[in-house]
Amino acid sequence: PILTRRNLLQASAVAGAYGVGLGIAGRFGGKAMAAPEPQVLKTAKIQANLMDAGVTKDVLTYGDAGMPPVVRMKKGEPFAARLINGMDDPTTIHWHGIRLPNKMDGVPFLTQPYVYAGDHFDYAFTPPDAGTFWYHPHCNTLIQMGHGMTGIIVVENPKDPAFDSEIVLNLRDWRLGGDGQFIAPFRPRDSAKSGTYGTVRTANWQQQPQYEAPSGGLVRLRLAITDVTRIYSFRVDGAEATVIAIDGNPVPQRFTLDLLQLGPGQRLELAVRMPDDEGAIVKLEDIRGTDPKVLATLRSVGSSLKRDVRDLPSLEDNPVAKADIRAAEHIPLILSATAENTADNSICGSLGYSFWAVNKVPWPGDTPDPTAPLAELKLGRSYIIDMENVTPHTHPIHLHGMSFTVLSSSTRQVQPFVSDTYLIQPDEKVQLGFVADNLGDWVLHCHIIEHQKTGMTSYVRVT
Ligand code: C2O
Ligand code: CU
Repeated sequence: PILTRRNLLQASAVAGAYGVGLGIAGRFGGKAMAAPEPQVLKTAKIQANLMDAGVTKDVLTYGDAGMPPVVRMKKGEPFAARLINGMDDPTTIHWHGIRLPNKMDGVPFLTQPYVYAGDHFDYAFTPPDAGTFWYHPHCNTLIQMGHGMTGIIVVENPKDPAFDSEIVLNLRDWRLGGDGQFIAPFRPRDSAKSGTYGTVRTANWQQQPQYEAPSGGLVRLRLAITDVTRIYSFRVDGAEATVIAIDGNPVPQRFTLDLLQLGPGQRLELAVRMPDDEGAIVKLEDIRGTDPKVLATLRSVGSSLKRDVRDLPSLEDNPVAKADIRAAEHIPLILSATAENTADNSICGSLGYSFWAVNKVPWPGDTPDPTAPLAELKLGRSYIIDMENVTPHTHPIHLHGMSFTVLSSSTRQVQPFVSDTYLIQPDEKVQLGFVADNLGDWVLHCHIIEHQKTGMTSYVRVT
């Protein structure tokens, strides 16, 4: 009977995936076009070369060798993928930042059943927005993501301006011991603070990789922080770097990258103007804390193309509805610490602690008995989340299914960024406006996975 129900849910998920006849929600399903050939994403346990000390065992990935593939989609065109679970533990795929039908969102219980060992699940949707996104499991996340299962998505727009080169960087850490093998994924005392950091830092699963780029050319550098814990402060040394998009959306006004702080789950697109001299080195650095760290380098090759970033046309905005601020209803959201413990009957990898809460309720986000939704929203109405962080730590808060606009902050001047993840500082209050234009239950949670799994998760329901 369980199998039948699972199959049934899968079948209806595929039927509903293109969102035919769903009114507003159907926008995220796109046109009723022929389903494309699905891309197979099979999960596997592999070995990988992450540090000189030796080959790391028990690395988890999609595909059979190395880093999960960069998945390419086209804005407004149907995409399909079959997740095949080749591991021992249940899993799902969440398509972070992509506005899609609820059944395709990859959240166990809320949107789909677990995908057990040997089982599969078919995802199909049409991405409405172009930009840099990413994919990862939403079950057993600390282990599965910590051991490698974080991949990048590029949604292409045929109208994008031409660059001379594109480089995609998957930025993340690994918790490895001196022998190159995985150590405990977290320390509870750190989970109750800023989270447990990795020991080995990589870009595309390599330590400080170097890429070649045309001298005097414009490079589109797409970065995604897929780490489970680390917050980065980006700087580019040796070239002018212009911020063109954050979290998959073009910025309202381009600016020169000076120092930009982004957290787990966030993406950054830069136009890097390579130096004219052949052989010159450009460094991408993280200078958070006292210890500046080179993440990757670009080397100028060939004779100069003499490009000018001011000639670069702007990116087309994504079709994200703007909230009607005057009519919007407010949703208070308070992030706090808690000591209250919850029983956790999830098979999605409970950490066994509860340290955090959303509006005083701690919930790990993947239990068969979800808490009540944070708010019930009406399809098509505008809302403003009044989010306040009363903890002494910074949290990247991610909302599934809908993109919001950052309206104001109590502590800093903000551009009206469109995003799916907001990095809220201690004692900050921020207003996030959005239109509830996508039906279903949508989780929102801290993307420091230990925070998520120890209580900093909730969801909104759109009906
Ligand atoms: Cu990228 Cu709910 O996650
Ligand atoms: Cu957090």
